[in-house]
Amino acid sequence: MRLVLLGPPGAGKGTQAQRLVERHGVVQLSTGDMLRAEAATGSDLGRQAAKAMDAGELVSDEVIIAMLASRIDPKNNPKGILLDGFPRTVGQAQALDALLKEKNLKIDHVIELAMKDDEVVKRISGRFTCAKCGAGYHDQLQKPAKDGICDKCGGTKFTRRADDNANAVRRRLEAYHGQTAPVIAYYRQRGVMNSVDAMAPIDKVAVELNAILG
Ligand code: AP5
Repeated sequence: MRLVLLGPPGAGKGTQAQRLVERHGVVQLSTGDMLRAEAATGSDLGRQAAKAMDAGELVSDEVIIAMLASRIDPKNNPKGILLDGFPRTVGQAQALDALLKEKNLKIDHVIELAMKDDEVVKRISGRFTCAKCGAGYHDQLQKPAKDGICDKCGGTKFTRRADDNANAVRRRLEAYHGQTAPVIAYYRQRGVMNSVDAMAPIDKVAVELNAILG
């Protein structure tokens, strides 16, 4: 299965991706995570990417497509891929189609996690992540069962993202409405587009996704 999860910042792409990976055995490919990993190396590319990300702007299509191209090989992903936060522009969607076509593959499902802008700000401002395993939490909406201890790995260190501040979130929303919304129209024309209400509780969103994916 080749699945794309789209949605504004904080819509729950990463949260639902973790569940879909467990359920379907697909490999999650998050361009945001790849860029943060590159930024952590301190390379030139990582520094450039971090500058754009911290400002809430998209990284160039050229960089993103080059980063993703080698990772969609079905030999490495026998049960398929879940693209989390990619494609974010029509140019990226066209490049993805071309890469898949070379391997006689295509996108099976694109699902938008739909959410209102004011809810986005609420979600993003409380988010934190386990520094050891990457599990996502929220100060009000999704606390660990034991305060300060990760449910998944027992880790006790947590991090917050540099781009989770009011200014960057506003720019990220602008990028979503300006550059990513046309991607939804692109996939609708291809008959693979679905949308779920991402303002529902996490478990309910998961049920909706499973109803679409089977
Ligand atoms: P990226 O890392 O992809 O960030 P994003 O799209 O802004 O999305 P987030 O990761 O912030 O949110 P999410 O939807 O995964 O929500 P989450 O599950 O964490 O991209 C970052 C940057 O990298 C971009 O701004 C850009 O600069 C660059 N970039 C990345 N890809 C690119 C591309 N293809 N092209 C160009 N540039 C690119 O959930 C959020 C919080 O809410 C959590 O705390 C969670 O616990 C909670 N939560 C989740 N679901 C629910 C629910 N249903 N109810 C209650 N709480 C919930």
